[in-house]
Amino acid sequence: MRFADKNIIVTGAASGIGRATAILMANEGAHVSIGDVNEAGLKETANMMTGDPQVIPYDATDHDSCKNLVAKATDGRPLDVICNIAGLLDWGPVDHFDEARFARVLAINLTSVYTLCRAALPHLVETKGTIINTSSTAGVAGIAYSSAYSASKHGVIGLTKSLAIEYASRGVRVNAICPGHVDTPMGNQTPPEGEIDWALVMRNVNKLEGGSCAPEDIANAFAYLASTDARKVSGTTLTVDGAMQAG
Ligand SMILES: NC(=O)c1ccc[n+]([C@@H]2O[C@H](COP(=O)([O-])OP(=O)(O)OC[C@H]3O[C@@H](n4cnc5c(N)ncnc54)[C@H](O)[C@@H]3O)[C@@H](O)[C@H]2O)c1
Repeated sequence: MRFADKNIIVTGAASGIGRATAILMANEGAHVSIGDVNEAGLKETANMMTGDPQVIPYDATDHDSCKNLVAKATDGRPLDVICNIAGLLDWGPVDHFDEARFARVLAINLTSVYTLCRAALPHLVETKGTIINTSSTAGVAGIAYSSAYSASKHGVIGLTKSLAIEYASRGVRVNAICPGHVDTPMGNQTPPEGEIDWALVMRNVNKLEGGSCAPEDIANAFAYLASTDARKVSGTTLTVDGAMQAG
């Protein structure tokens, strides 16, 4: 029960890693507010959770919607942790990938994370709480056909490290997790249109026996960084990728 009486926001909770993280933190005693654009998926997740989760639909492309999520989750309760997990994978050869698609990936994967952090930080200063963002192995290395996604996830690491320094003296920790390939709807998305050189894509697969990570493998990393075991861990990235990035 690492999170007894803690108030935690988990975005992207309608599916995959966000769902697994919300379930785990609720099982360990947290009051969890779950946010996502997919309302039906959020309700399914709530039914899988212990306790009394607060279901808060929001759209990451809308700044006011992001701020409203934090306002609702903090109404009458101090905030201890925000796990920014919602994200979008849109990829394909550059000649098929226009600026509107690039901008949408950046808006959901990076700008909304900034807005959510900005809204949460005054609350987290009060509790000496913590932020955990979601980057990717695509945030520490380039990935063919994924320039928008990779740029957004590199951006998440820059945001994470900068906030960690800015808020360290006020006791707020800020970290990011870099999953490798995870068995979720995003991880198993059908390939995009256009000519793909699969040899380039397959460089980025997990090497550890058993292949892809499960959503629960990543949820465990969120729980560690949210816990007091990580009280001196800030401004860092935790890679969970079965040796994908090791070389
Ligand atoms: N699956 C992987 O292989 C992998 C690898 C590295 C990083 N990640 C990252 O992990 C995070 C979770 O991904 P996942 O694999 O669980 O994928 P997923 O598709 O199962 O879940 C992503 C969630 O984000 C939500 N979302 C998308 N657009 C949104 C919007 N505009 N507003 C609010 N919510 C929105 C979706 O509805 C969905 O529930 C993402 O940030 C992703 O980039 C995933």
